[in-house]
Amino acid sequence: MQSHPFSIDDVVVGRSSRMRAVFDYVRVIADSDSNVLVTGETGTGKEMVANLIHQSSGRRARPFVPVSCAILSENLIESELFGHERGAFTGAIKDRPGRYEMANGGTIFLDDIDDVPLAMQVKLLRVLQNRTIERVGGSRSIEVNVRTVTGSKRDLRTMVAAGTFREDLYYRLNVIPINLPPLRDRREDISVLTEHFVKRYFRMRGEDPRPVSPGVMQAFQRYPWPGNVRELENACERIAQTCNCEQVKIGCVPVSVLFHKHAEAAEPIVETHGHPSSVSLDDRLKDVELNLISWALKVTSGNKSKAAELLQIKRSTLGDRIKKLGLQHLEAAEGVELAD
Ligand SMILES: Nc1ncnc2c1ncn2[C@@H]1O[C@H](COP(=O)(O)OP(=O)(O)O)[C@@H](O)[C@H]1O
Ligand SMILES: [Mg+2]
Repeated sequence: MQSHPFSIDDVVVGRSSRMRAVFDYVRVIADSDSNVLVTGETGTGKEMVANLIHQSSGRRARPFVPVSCAILSENLIESELFGHERGAFTGAIKDRPGRYEMANGGTIFLDDIDDVPLAMQVKLLRVLQNRTIERVGGSRSIEVNVRTVTGSKRDLRTMVAAGTFREDLYYRLNVIPINLPPLRDRREDISVLTEHFVKRYFRMRGEDPRPVSPGVMQAFQRYPWPGNVRELENACERIAQTCNCEQVKIGCVPVSVLFHKHAEAAEPIVETHGHPSSVSLDDRLKDVELNLISWALKVTSGNKSKAAELLQIKRSTLGDRIKKLGLQHLEAAEGVELAD
């Protein structure tokens, strides 16, 4: 296991029962050649699971080729997947193999399969049935030995019912279904993922990883993470880039995570500390201040006058403190709108 770029323990993190079930299932199905359909919201780890299937399979010495079908225009998809011969269209100045040929012996991951137009779906079905491809503008059939894993953020059955996804293709792709739950439905994973990413990004910055305060974990537990694991990863990356404290504190957390539009009014987070040998009163007070101001801004959706009222201070005092704590810089960077 150690020699793989992917080892379940160091790269893929999850302790919720749903994710543990996914990891167990991946081990069971890895060596079969059947197609796999991975469904889940954006950022839930579909590509990561596809890669894990590949690395756990006998195909691991051959390429893993991910392709996002969402970013490709209808014309481009075909030549991207199947390649083209010189002169097939304007700009095709030489023969070029497609991703299917590159993945020969290995695994192709077609992400965002739900964005593939119907015309292209027919061609894909043919490849899956015949295990051969034809380059655009070519006449030769090229045999390929590729396992196809697809990713979808939409429910393909609904699309089949609506006539936007071919039923025969759906059955071809969905031989082995894997569903990844959104992060908000597996909150047990939030703390392990946070520790994992914070450690990784401090290391990448060339620094020792810092511990994460219980208050930060509490804020992360509360946040609904609409962008799932990817959003959590980005938040941790930002923390590692900007935090110079000994411990990652509530003040180091991106403001968008602390006060988000869809949050219900929550109690402010009070950091609970153990019994350290010494205490910095100033740091503690700053924590409390940041915490309460963030809370007030959150429950008032960024309305500074109302937040000042809640905190029983003058509007101008609140403005000064926001400046002092650096909240106004975060504001612009995060698209959080503070208003008077
Ligand atoms: N369980 C996990 N453990 C570690 N990293 C994860 C996990 N799930 C997702 N990630 C990371 O989150 C990011 C988004 O995952 P990705 O597989 O690209 O999601 P999707 O394809 O569903 O949009 C990637 O950087 C990925 O490595
Ligand atoms: Mg993806």
